[in-house]
Amino acid sequence: MIDYSNLLAYLQQSPLQSWVDRLPQQIADGLCEKRYGDLHKWTAALAQLPLIKSSRNNFLDKVEIGAPENCDEQTRAQLRQTLEALIPWRKGPYWVHGIHIDTEWRSDWKWDRVIPHLAPLQDRLILDVGCGNGYHCWRMLGAGAQRVIGIDPSPRFVVQFHMIKQLAGNNYPIDVLPVGIEELPEKLQAFDTIFSMGVFYHRKSPMDHLRELKEALRPGGQLVLETLVIEGGPGEVLVPEGRYAMMNNVWFIPSCDTMLGWLRKMGFTNPRVVDVCATSTREQRSTEWMKFHSLPEFLHPDNPALTAEGHPAPIRAVFVAEA
Ligand SMILES: C[S@@+](CC[C@H](N)C(=O)[O-])C[C@H]1O[C@@H](n2cnc3c(N)ncnc32)[C@H](O)[C@@H]1O
Repeated sequence: MIDYSNLLAYLQQSPLQSWVDRLPQQIADGLCEKRYGDLHKWTAALAQLPLIKSSRNNFLDKVEIGAPENCDEQTRAQLRQTLEALIPWRKGPYWVHGIHIDTEWRSDWKWDRVIPHLAPLQDRLILDVGCGNGYHCWRMLGAGAQRVIGIDPSPRFVVQFHMIKQLAGNNYPIDVLPVGIEELPEKLQAFDTIFSMGVFYHRKSPMDHLRELKEALRPGGQLVLETLVIEGGPGEVLVPEGRYAMMNNVWFIPSCDTMLGWLRKMGFTNPRVVDVCATSTREQRSTEWMKFHSLPEFLHPDNPALTAEGHPAPIRAVFVAEA
């Protein structure tokens, strides 16, 4: 249904060759309609995507596919209806033939905070762990990456990515795979840059996450890790017993100094904090493309410096280090 033949052919002659044998089964498991009740609806929507020839695509300073004049109003209405079948759209924004997918997150703001601090992405082989629908993968490609592989176990996001890719013309060295980081072959030592953004606090075992990231990087390759942090000194870490900002799968929120110590302990070289930013209700909010509650409802009604549960409100930091 989703064609990964181009990627599989690439893997054969790449440093990722050891992945070739097991990846087809991982893809089949990750997109198994018996496992994911609504998946057949999403793939049906993907199959119904109108064929529109895109006159231009821009991934450099936004993600924009085609232009309003590439299709008539009736086709645009059909396109909008098809894209809406995949609501909620969380990461973006996207502009597609004149349709603005105004996503829950302004993921472009995160990108703007991250990109100035990185080794140039030109010609790099990149892994984006927990890439969601692949928004940042497109921006990596726009920054000159040789090839981008995103992984995310959520099939809705994988199908969203393929909608965008199909509309862009399919012809790009970029893929999003329905797999989790724990499914990567051990000790790949292959990627020039690995991004783990918004994933660390969801992992029950933080040191194992850092080890998995390090083992997938080539020696000297760069890790870009973005995660929730708390204010505080070395050794301080919040392990919320219940929910954090209504999320029930948040495990470890370290201070910046704690995170730096963990990166050093796991063998990363020269870890540094390059950005710290409180998440605003302008960056994460409900929209017509994500109609559920969002950050404004996740904060304490009487004190926006706290989450609904009384923890410090979300602050995010970007860490960069070399393997
Ligand atoms: C908060 S989102 C972050 C999305 C994007 N990286 C960003 O920074 O905007 C976390 C993503 O991690 C994905 N995820 C959860 N468990 C994962 C795992 N074991 N391996 C890879 N990704 C995972 C989720 O499906 C979700 O899309």
